[in-house]
Amino acid sequence: MADISFFSGERIPLELHKVRIVQKLDLVPIERRLEAISEAGNNTFLLQNKDIFLDMLTDSGVNAMSDKQLAAMMICDDSYAGSATFTRLTEKLTEIFGMDYFLPAHQGRACENILAMSLVKTGNIIPMNYHFTTTKAHITRMGGRVEELLIDEGIKTTSVHPFKGNFDLAKLKALIERVGAENIPFIRLESGTNLIGGQPFSLENAKAVCAMAHEHGILTVLDASLLQDNLYFIKTRESACKDMSVRQITRELADQMDIIYFSARKLGFARGGGICIRSKKLCDSMRELVPMFEGFLTYGGMSVREIEAMTVGLEETMDMDIISQGPQFIQYMCEQLIKNGVPVVTPPGGLGCHLNASEFIPQVPQNQYPAGALAAAVYLAGGIRGMERGTLSEQREEDGTEHMSSVELLRLALPRRVFTLSQVKYAIDRITWLYQYRNMIGGLKFVEEPSSLRFFFGRLEPIGDWQTELVHQFRKDFGTSL
Ligand SMILES: Cc1ncc(COP(=O)(O)O)c(C=O)c1O
Repeated sequence: MADISFFSGERIPLELHKVRIVQKLDLVPIERRLEAISEAGNNTFLLQNKDIFLDMLTDSGVNAMSDKQLAAMMICDDSYAGSATFTRLTEKLTEIFGMDYFLPAHQGRACENILAMSLVKTGNIIPMNYHFTTTKAHITRMGGRVEELLIDEGIKTTSVHPFKGNFDLAKLKALIERVGAENIPFIRLESGTNLIGGQPFSLENAKAVCAMAHEHGILTVLDASLLQDNLYFIKTRESACKDMSVRQITRELADQMDIIYFSARKLGFARGGGICIRSKKLCDSMRELVPMFEGFLTYGGMSVREIEAMTVGLEETMDMDIISQGPQFIQYMCEQLIKNGVPVVTPPGGLGCHLNASEFIPQVPQNQYPAGALAAAVYLAGGIRGMERGTLSEQREEDGTEHMSSVELLRLALPRRVFTLSQVKYAIDRITWLYQYRNMIGGLKFVEEPSSLRFFFGRLEPIGDWQTELVHQFRKDFGTSL
């Protein structure tokens, strides 16, 4: 990783790339933003891109590609079976992860479908550091149950623990003893643990988990979707790994695993996914699900262009200069917001900056969706689209009562290499402005509430006229500025 200090003493993340293709953005006036958020039912998923200035909804499938990836897309071999493009991908995966078998799939959740259908039976328990929404859905659909065995520090929003994604080894040992290894088909380790703020596990912890699993004959599965951020944190925060190359860390981690699956919408800066498998027997047991649900074994539902880009993107993931851009920008954004008093999840993780809505607007009770209200307010303040990660993203209990989330977060994702530092500074500025007027922010209530996945399609309205008042305050403070 390049070590570049500034004469001024300021700590600024410096991009080690230049921008050669750009997309024009519009910043519509706040009056239009008010119209747009009400047209979208106060749900940022339902906003139209033309009304958005900084799209921080997700990092999924929206990371910037490199010139080498775009060039590779032009030389792809578009054949249904036996494509050279696919061979290049499998060779790259074997080189990086050291596994001989690979099954392609159209994205991460499709890999989870295949794994759950092949490995999970009714009554099975699947231990993991923390769940991801689609992972849990596939496991429970097959009659399995997820057990989250994260260290206690992992769900504390403010912490200095460098590896909040670590497993609690004592809890894992106790679980295996309690339910029996025969009821645990695999242990899933999620890198860059998404739902707790993109928090990593350490290599030491992963090795200990896998050693315990193998001692009991349990398979180990790595969800490598957010591996690149986790690799960065292992290299920069784990002293035993500081002299190892990213490639060496990756290989040492991969050597502990029986299966590695990933969403290439995140890992590899492209769109797609796949499952790397150590044993032929295991691969053969899952293989037929690929042509049944995804596509033939040499493309698995992916476009060959994306496969070529992914091969190059995976190689680029082994470059510390490339994978450090995301976490360094996130760290900068979090540190500046903390300086301005804004509550964010610490330490900064990968994926994005997470505002703690419970502390930002404590006056909004959980049944009025504070993280959703904050998402609407941040959009109003700056045309910035984030994603609610709180009670709104949960499903009601069967008796209709709210299932309150353990955390109320607004995730502001920083898709890799997409935003410039001045855009990040703009976001910090508008969020800091909003924080001065946090008492004005009120809650939301549903006007249309779907029975499942309500955070995707549901429509809400503000309780009271706080949004209009916020617009008036903005005009007072910013004059004619957009
Ligand atoms: C950790 C993790 N696993 C799996 C997935 C699912 O991947 P996809 O969105 O490609 O289906 C995601 C997506 O965000 C993820 O973050």
